[in-house]
Amino acid sequence: MSVTMNAKYLEAFVRPDEFDHLMPAVQTVHGLLEGKTGPGNDFLGWVSLPQNYDKDEFARVKQAAAQIRQNSQVLVVVGIGGSYLGARAVLEAVKGAQYNALPGGPQVLFAGNSVSPSALADIVQLCEGKDFSVNMISKSGTTTEPAVAFRVLRELLEAKYGKEGAKARIFATTDKARGTLKELAGREGYQSFVVPDDIGGRYSVLTAVGLLPLAVAGVDIDALMDGAAEAMRALAVCNEGNHCYRWAMARNLLLRKGKCIEVLASYEPDFAVMCEWYKQLFGESEGKDQKGIFPASVIFSTDLHSMGQFLQDGSRNLFETVVAVKRLRRDMPIPAGEDFDGLGYLARQNLSHVNDMAMKGTILAHTDGGVPVVVLETDSLAARDVGYLIYFFEKACAISGYLLGVNPFDQPGVESYKRNMFALLGKPGFEEQAAALAKRLG
Ligand code: PA5
Repeated sequence: MSVTMNAKYLEAFVRPDEFDHLMPAVQTVHGLLEGKTGPGNDFLGWVSLPQNYDKDEFARVKQAAAQIRQNSQVLVVVGIGGSYLGARAVLEAVKGAQYNALPGGPQVLFAGNSVSPSALADIVQLCEGKDFSVNMISKSGTTTEPAVAFRVLRELLEAKYGKEGAKARIFATTDKARGTLKELAGREGYQSFVVPDDIGGRYSVLTAVGLLPLAVAGVDIDALMDGAAEAMRALAVCNEGNHCYRWAMARNLLLRKGKCIEVLASYEPDFAVMCEWYKQLFGESEGKDQKGIFPASVIFSTDLHSMGQFLQDGSRNLFETVVAVKRLRRDMPIPAGEDFDGLGYLARQNLSHVNDMAMKGTILAHTDGGVPVVVLETDSLAARDVGYLIYFFEKACAISGYLLGVNPFDQPGVESYKRNMFALLGKPGFEEQAAALAKRLG
């Protein structure tokens, strides 16, 4: 198990000695990370998390998951951003994007990741006539989107099971001491799980934030943590064999050449939400101080029929990172028989082979079109490999952010919209800002 970077398709864009020249800088930022002396060093809990996680809490997560699996047909996971994307990303990568529609269960639905009334009303409808539980996740405990959804879902639970019955079906994942959700959980007696102080939202998927929903969906969370622990050990040394660092270096070298957009490409629809998770991880970590690489994503071959033209032939300010999965979750042969469609030359070939040729052909075409392509190869999207991949991405992001000269662990920009929204909605304490905004809106 590993993730390896294939830099073959970068050769026309970045010379090997450019990597060599960047190595001293990488050694410096590696030192900042390992020595915990860089910006944001109070948010480095994720670095040793795969080994140092709270084993008692991990056992409680498994117990709670077993209880939910036994008494619920649906788990509604309420959260946004880092309190949402990781769980959904890993669930779909490991179990498939159609998990909820396939037999098995329980269904795991996600609410509170927007303020769309339609989205929330649909979730409510999906819970009707079913036994369900709710996992409310918010590190701060004050984020509006999940708080609104939780208000609705708690009312629904209490109407169906009574106050006491509902209590046993509400699981709160939040700060260990502070915030509205923590206070509520304490007051109402909800079982609660901790988002550690030193782990930011976008780095929290391997805490209870991700682990409880994943365990409910039947993802092997032991294997997930084992994979992350293996990555932690393998990527602890700063040398040329550290492919995570090589990717961070490639990104930085390409940015210096004006490639300010990274398109993460996968040929697996199951990877689509992992792409969203990557976008948050890198976007929030690097996009600050008027700097950063804009993280975008595509799923091929689907998006070759929508974004393919631009990637082949549009503005040349982008590069592509392809996540190539060697062994897929399922495979199927193309039927032989009557050649009514001219596809006889593909008869009995596995679809995985066709997908692989689509990938190889596209990489060459895009490289010819002036797009630098980095390939990250992983064995599979089984829990262990996904655990490895998560840690690989997290560490690459930290190194990449430090190379860029930003603090990869804060997100001051996320607060601006929250303040405006609070003011416009009339939240007490925001009166002055509300008046100023009202003037501007006319
Ligand atoms: O990464 C982050 O910090 C953010 O995306 C948060 O996860 C998001 O804003 C949700 O915050 P909270 O968990 O406090 O509700």
